[in-house]
Amino acid sequence: MQDTTQSRPTISMPADHAIAMPAYVDRSHLVVQDLPMVSAWYQRILGLSPIETGTNGETLGVAGRPLLTLTTEGNAARAPRNAPGLFHTAFLVPNRRELGRWLAHAVRNNTRLQGASDHLVSEAIYLADPEGNGIEVYRDRPRGEWDYQPDGTVAMSTLPLDLRALYEEAPNDHWDGLAEGTTIGHIHLQVSDIPEADAFFRDVLGLDLMARYPGASFFASGNYHHHVAANIWNSRGAPKRQSNMTGLADYTIRFSDAAKLATALGNLDEVEIRVNKEGSVHSLVDPWGIGLKLAS
Ligand SMILES: [Fe+2]
Repeated sequence: MQDTTQSRPTISMPADHAIAMPAYVDRSHLVVQDLPMVSAWYQRILGLSPIETGTNGETLGVAGRPLLTLTTEGNAARAPRNAPGLFHTAFLVPNRRELGRWLAHAVRNNTRLQGASDHLVSEAIYLADPEGNGIEVYRDRPRGEWDYQPDGTVAMSTLPLDLRALYEEAPNDHWDGLAEGTTIGHIHLQVSDIPEADAFFRDVLGLDLMARYPGASFFASGNYHHHVAANIWNSRGAPKRQSNMTGLADYTIRFSDAAKLATALGNLDEVEIRVNKEGSVHSLVDPWGIGLKLAS
């Protein structure tokens, strides 16, 4: 199925929203084994709606905005847990009220949650789809509450999130999907080496290093807390991802800053990473075998 990256609805976003930045994650593409089952799960539990259906895949989104493409391949083998690829796709809801509304829906459906954290900059709930692909649903705190450090990084932490309070604050109303304005806020990857990740995302793609955890780096444009994170918690030293594995086939970083994209393309050429251009989309495979599309 063609992963078209063209048409998107125009919804006015706050000027400091994750996707109002010079470069941001627009879409994610997973290869799954049981397409009808996984697609139905994303529609029922996350509340994504089908936007485009092809012979071997489906694109789902919110309010007409494509966010997630699911495709299936007959010979796709289940990716081992330590393979480079997806740690989670993070869906960013507009506010705390919407995070609570989704939580209440998840609880009503007996959805198994894997965790919930207060990251200072955001509040996040974690789960996985039926084939084990990681998912985060989160809301950002206002940027005025973020604690930027003198070196330009931003303070983040992993504190417990009071799910009961969030649940009890949620309006007890009819839920018919994630709210308009929901986007992918960031993607978190499994890679095999952190210095290599710093070199790729910061030095080649031109994102800024916004935070470090033990075994993880966080990158962004426009001083967002992170558009891309990379960790080695399961995948330290792992061999490259194989093309016939389930999981993250590719994701799209969209550049609203043309000069930033041109610089990234020049750097990719310099480090001899092959880029295929199709229309306005530049496709490549990163150092860990994960597909990446750069779009303008
Ligand atoms: Fe995350």
